[in-house]
Amino acid sequence: MNTIETALKIHSLIDGDSESALFDAELLLCHVLGCNRTYLRTWPEKQLSSDQQTQYSSLINLRREGQPVAYLLGRRDFWTLELFVSPATLIPRPDTEILIEHALELTLPSDASVLDLGTGTGAIALSLASERSNWQVTACDAFSAVVELAQKNAEHNRLERVDIVCSSWFEMFENDRFHLIVSNPPYIDPQDPHLTQGDLRYEPVSALVAQEQGMADIRHIVQASVKHLYVDGWLMIEHGYDQGGLVRNCFEQCGFEQIKTICDFGNNERVTMGQMK
Ligand SMILES: C[S@@+](CC[C@H](N)C(=O)[O-])C[C@H]1O[C@@H](n2cnc3c(N)ncnc32)[C@H](O)[C@@H]1O
Repeated sequence: MNTIETALKIHSLIDGDSESALFDAELLLCHVLGCNRTYLRTWPEKQLSSDQQTQYSSLINLRREGQPVAYLLGRRDFWTLELFVSPATLIPRPDTEILIEHALELTLPSDASVLDLGTGTGAIALSLASERSNWQVTACDAFSAVVELAQKNAEHNRLERVDIVCSSWFEMFENDRFHLIVSNPPYIDPQDPHLTQGDLRYEPVSALVAQEQGMADIRHIVQASVKHLYVDGWLMIEHGYDQGGLVRNCFEQCGFEQIKTICDFGNNERVTMGQMK
């Protein structure tokens, strides 16, 4: 029978796809035992039951095949929230927290209306709502299974006041205007070789890929935002590390001012924002 200590040694079996094999093994073991990582450190000699051993081995095998840890656990921490995840949409990434940090620095009305396009798990919309209780936050996604997931996350984090609807981009917001529009849309070129690597292999194409070298959805959102923003309203879009120039161009052509691009933790251009005057 394995102890916690010997069970964790199995982490070396997780293949080179994982940069943090021990961390992954710890998260999977915590999931099976229903404990936190401190418990693993405190009780290395505790024995796993045979059920726990079987469940843990099967999770390790799935991880060895390349399944993302977040999908195996069914959840991912983001900002200050715990979010359920599913293969219907993207696993939220830490780099997206940069967009949230900068959105919270904007000078907006205290009851600002905010729209998150392509909300996925609800990561951006729910994080903003958790920090600004008076903002009127709306979120949309094109797929009903994704909308249901985001609604479940709103309930789980007691943020039910966020309105989450099924809409292809602005389809359901024909006559609405917002003080802030945010989006992390699909932006990967269909030919990008990264799509066959790491977690991206398991995430849905609908969350990742856009035509026109990844720019089609971004262009649509920037152009359509013009008539959905109040005067002085802001648009913030997350994009690929090599799309900053194209996205700034698009903002300029659509008449945005105060355009700037923010870099992510790896110093790559990641979020472009601009104001509609
Ligand atoms: C890159 S994921 C971002 C998810 C989430 N905002 C995040 O940052 O983790 C893009 C999301 O856009 C959604 N999406 C794709 N096409 C869409 C469309 N036409 N209208 C609305 N949402 C769309 C996808 O289902 C997916 O959830």
